[in-house]
Amino acid sequence: MNTAVPQQKPQKTVTLIDNETGKKFDLPIIDGSTGPRVIDIRKLYAETGMFTYDPGFTSTAACDSGLTYIDGDKGILLHRGYSIKELALKSDFLEVCHLLLNGELPNKQQKDEFVNTVTRHTMVHEQMQFFFRGFRRDSHPMAVMVGTVGALSAFYHDSLNIDDPRQREIAAFRLIAKMPTIAAMVYKYSIGQPFMYPRNDLSYSENFLYMTFAVPSEPYKISPILARAMDRILILHADHEQNASTSTVRLAGSSRANPFACIASGIASLWGPAHGGANEAVLFMLKEIGDKSRIPEYIKRSKDKNDSFRLMGFGHRVYKNYDPRAEIMRDTCYEVLGELGIKDPLLELAMELEKIALKDDYFIEKKLYPNVDFYSGIILRAMGFPTNMFTVLFAVARTVGWISQWNEMIQEPTQKIGRPRQLYTGPVERPFTPLDRRK
Ligand code: SDX
Repeated sequence: MNTAVPQQKPQKTVTLIDNETGKKFDLPIIDGSTGPRVIDIRKLYAETGMFTYDPGFTSTAACDSGLTYIDGDKGILLHRGYSIKELALKSDFLEVCHLLLNGELPNKQQKDEFVNTVTRHTMVHEQMQFFFRGFRRDSHPMAVMVGTVGALSAFYHDSLNIDDPRQREIAAFRLIAKMPTIAAMVYKYSIGQPFMYPRNDLSYSENFLYMTFAVPSEPYKISPILARAMDRILILHADHEQNASTSTVRLAGSSRANPFACIASGIASLWGPAHGGANEAVLFMLKEIGDKSRIPEYIKRSKDKNDSFRLMGFGHRVYKNYDPRAEIMRDTCYEVLGELGIKDPLLELAMELEKIALKDDYFIEKKLYPNVDFYSGIILRAMGFPTNMFTVLFAVARTVGWISQWNEMIQEPTQKIGRPRQLYTGPVERPFTPLDRRK
């Protein structure tokens, strides 16, 4: 037996020197399994009386996580170590859900059980349908999603106890299973068609297309091409490290809010055009550009600091290379439209826009590449989804990422409420001025 006391590796540190006082502070460095190391500043305020300052969290690791790894410079995206390309081309969405939730791809028996459980949670409480009547038919679908998903916590009281692993698991199954049903209801309500109940004989993606596009008055033929494309789109949007909506879910969850309320907060954050709302904004942008001859004018506008116009679907906080999801999405776009015999001028326009932008010095220097939202809208349009449903589909897919990240956080032994501080720039204390003496 090795009796030698294992040599404690010396703690790696960085030293902070306050040049005003000459005081030195040693801050520990922590290694991950790969990727950037972190400087542990948890004791910084107690030792220095100072905060770090990082609006937008450009250099801040808010947590540790084993779910998703992104190397923005190399354009690498891994879920639990598997590359997004392999998962998108060789796996399916429910396998990826199992992987994100449980850490491993399922074996045959585990997959059958997982699929069966999700399938049997796809119906929503029958009273949910009455929520929709409170909304205008022309409400933005994301407004309805925020409301109805948050309302799930009014129905499923037996999966609100976040300290009970079984209840957390049921809540995860309910959310993953019911999101397509609710999304389809949102669409049906907006076009005045009756809701379609889920069918247990269909796969997750087939069921989603069926509930969205079938009508009770005639049989609906599900296209295997569209079902496969839908499944791949869901995989590409499943999780993405600590993006804005995931960070919103984590912060909401840190107060110990129930999982349904936390996912509703994620939907609200995703809605923004700088985030998940970009897929809808890309279609509006392409329609506004309208013709290849106008691309130079819009490229010029996107570089003009005095013009609020940005090239939607381009740029990313982390990717300074081609978003690997965008590449797969572009290829899928080409494949699906080709197989469907659809010649969408917006696809040609998008390809030309990408070609011109990627040769432009501004985009090269700022490392602005197409992101996941640049091509997704073109496929979704070809599948028959209206533009205002694109971000809803993003939310359907991202729910597994949100709930997996939430679950990971809740299980953290050191989990505590998130409560950032600030650099105060307002007035210092001053005496109250009575009304008759104010100017
Ligand atoms: C998603 O975080 C995630 O992982 C998100 C996501 C996920 O899966 O969860 O990947 C999904 O949200 C993808 C991003 C979708 N959004 C868009 O396509 C909207 C357009 N993109 C930009 O708004 C922007 O690129 C962001 C919001 C995506 C990233 O913004 P950052 O990291 O804060 O970068 P920035 O705004 O500081 O831009 C850096 C420079 C700026 O120029 P300077 O001030 O340095 O001179 O690049 C310019 C920006 O003006 N720039 C753009 C641009 N994006 C950045 N210029 C023109 N067009 C653009 N699209």
